Amino acid sequence: MIVKISKYVALFSVTILMTIGCSPHHEQSTFANAGPVATSQSNLFYLMFWIAALIFVVVQGALIFAIINFRRREHPIPGSDFKLPDIPPKQVHGNTKLELLWTIIPALILVAIAIPTIQVIYETYEPPENSDPLEIIAIGHQWWWEFRYPDEGIVTANELVVPTNRPINVSLKSQDVIHSFWIPQVAGKQDTMPGNTNQMWFQIDKPGNYSGQCAEFCGVAHARMRFRVVANTTEDFKTWMKMIKTPPKAATSDGYGLFLAHCSMCHTIDSYVENSYEKEITIQNDRWNDWYSNQEEAVRVSAPNLTHLGIRSMLAAGEKDLTRENLIAWITNPSDIKTGTRMQTVANVYKEGSAKLKEHEVEAIADYLLSQKPENWGMLSGKGVDTEEKEEIAWNTPEEHGKYLFINQGCSGCHSLTDEEIVGPGMQGILGRAATRVSGLTAEEYIYNSIVSPNEYLVEGYPENVMPQAFENLSEEELNALISYLKTIE
Ligand code: CUA
Repeated sequence: MIVKISKYVALFSVTILMTIGCSPHHEQSTFANAGPVATSQSNLFYLMFWIAALIFVVVQGALIFAIINFRRREHPIPGSDFKLPDIPPKQVHGNTKLELLWTIIPALILVAIAIPTIQVIYETYEPPENSDPLEIIAIGHQWWWEFRYPDEGIVTANELVVPTNRPINVSLKSQDVIHSFWIPQVAGKQDTMPGNTNQMWFQIDKPGNYSGQCAEFCGVAHARMRFRVVANTTEDFKTWMKMIKTPPKAATSDGYGLFLAHCSMCHTIDSYVENSYEKEITIQNDRWNDWYSNQEEAVRVSAPNLTHLGIRSMLAAGEKDLTRENLIAWITNPSDIKTGTRMQTVANVYKEGSAKLKEHEVEAIADYLLSQKPENWGMLSGKGVDTEEKEEIAWNTPEEHGKYLFINQGCSGCHSLTDEEIVGPGMQGILGRAATRVSGLTAEEYIYNSIVSPNEYLVEGYPENVMPQAFENLSEEELNALISYLKTIE
């Protein structure tokens, strides 16, 4: 008896817990509709719910009526111990009228449900005509989201910034396995499939943050493959688009070099540069192919674009709020925050016997990333202008300046000063080799070119796009200093 009761108590508690999911106050509730697509989908749900509820009441009512009314009875004979058996009720088997009725009524109910369902399927497939939708490409990766704005040439990750009151037309793709793109308050889920593009649209009425979630089991970190939709007014969205294309203030922290050395093979940081959109897509594909073709030894894998990370609100695909403390914890040991993250298995700083990042180096990288905000962002986001200046250092010799750059620009993360290979070739005896590499180019010219356009001066056996292409932004003075220093490595 006790076992029976506790079973019911357990069932009741689970049911109550599950219905909490229906609360419109939860950030992932499908009952807090934030736009027209969500509204028409939930209207359809309510229509079906009430039809189903009505059918339930009628069928259960008829059942209860029949159970009570036609229950088995015994008829005692007065003054005797004998009872008369019950007389069976009138049988209706083969009643044509009844059979027609219970065939036609369900058929009509199905038609009543099908008409609005098909209507909603069409309505929610493509944005209304002449509505000037914003085109977005959303790509599922294990385990984060990439967002591309093909018409604006913007690439970002895990935070999708959109304008309110304008349809957003989403093309859904996947790089690896099937994921599902779902913003519960905004629109129903739609799968992202490798090798196939799916399509959906949504629109958000009010500015604010909307929680998104991968809704198809896609591996160990599936539950932590979240994202956030940030809906801005038209005006603020325009500002954001302009800002995302604005370079950040020059970085002053040592973190820049460390970032270039250890993180930049997988994470792009400079998508504010003109025409960087196509480049980012190519690099992202190369990263993936490198990893996919040799998962044991790959030095890179496709990873979130980190341009202007400082203005985002979350990290690790929505797992944590973006704070200095969380970012440091994330860089120190990603698996503590998100099990299965590929950063931990691919990045050389986490590998066995590698140069593990020291605490102050992790802090420097975190500070550098947090400093990545568009110049004047403070002013435009109403937080006041930051007036910090870049410090000027006086160098005694170009070689000394070059050595500083070699370390602080991150060269030393991939190039050793001996003939040992870290990621790229060792620098020992570079002068002699450079002189013979391309006929007609002096050693200095060759080194110069291979720094500013690394893909065109690849040493045989090394893949394209591994060396950062950010060094073309160095000044002539800095490049010359770097060359002077490299020439001294014998
Ligand atoms: Cu991606 Cu689940």
